[in-house]
Amino acid sequence: MSATIIDGKQIAADLKESIRQEVESRIEKGLRRPGLAVVLVGDDPASAVYVNSKRKSCEAAGFVSKAFIKPTTMTQDELFALIDELNADDEIDGILVQLPLPEHINGDEVIERILPEKDVDGFHPYNVGRLALRMPLLRSCTPKGIMTMLEKTGIDLVGQDAVIIGQSNIVGRPMALELLAARCTITVCHSRTKDLEDKVKGADIVVAAVGIPNFVPGSWVKEGAIVIDVGINRLDNGKLVGDVDFHTAAEKASWITPVPGGVGPMTVATLLENTLESAKMRD
Ligand code: GUN
Repeated sequence: MSATIIDGKQIAADLKESIRQEVESRIEKGLRRPGLAVVLVGDDPASAVYVNSKRKSCEAAGFVSKAFIKPTTMTQDELFALIDELNADDEIDGILVQLPLPEHINGDEVIERILPEKDVDGFHPYNVGRLALRMPLLRSCTPKGIMTMLEKTGIDLVGQDAVIIGQSNIVGRPMALELLAARCTITVCHSRTKDLEDKVKGADIVVAAVGIPNFVPGSWVKEGAIVIDVGINRLDNGKLVGDVDFHTAAEKASWITPVPGGVGPMTVATLLENTLESAKMRD
């Protein structure tokens, strides 16, 4: 089999365009522009790239965009004070604090400080809990973006065996909850998982989110499986690769996401979708 590519770049571009049009029609009706505040603490170069891309997409969609770029020396109390200000700011529908944070700041406490209705990352325990209980409100961007991509394939997910490699709060866990809500049978694998190869070999859907270049070889992929690659790894030669060995996996899979141009662009488009949704809830 030779896989069909799930073109995340195109799906994300279409989604962003439909959001831009919806913002325009809101303005015509006299409604507010959605507003997103992005907070970056420290000087992690990858985070700076992500924050910039989020800001640019916001502006292109016609959102109010506020960016707060703070030095590593910012204290947790100072960050709390900024979040409190943004929680109270009526122009702001979504607050995104870029992770990871410097070590002296407790990320879990920061996430809990954001009002759940402005938590457009979907990381607040309230929003994760709602997803776990099949009452989703704001859903984590990367897993939700992946669900949008899976919908575009038109494949019925009910009863499919899904294997998620990675148990992070940002991707693995909410991804498992999304696929469970879609009535897949889920297996969440991590560094202590036994017989990972066998588990992947049995999967109808594989989601790889481990952060190790080419970690999943094509020989592990079941004939006809759907392969979703969340990894974005830069090799020493500057090339970007995913967690899946794309060329060998594409020979076995029915559908596969490329890196770059797969899951990455969907995360940003979904962030805009969530911010618009939050604005609508707060109208
Ligand atoms: N760091 C890596 N991915 C994400 C994300 O989706 N949101 C935030 N806030 N930080 C991240």
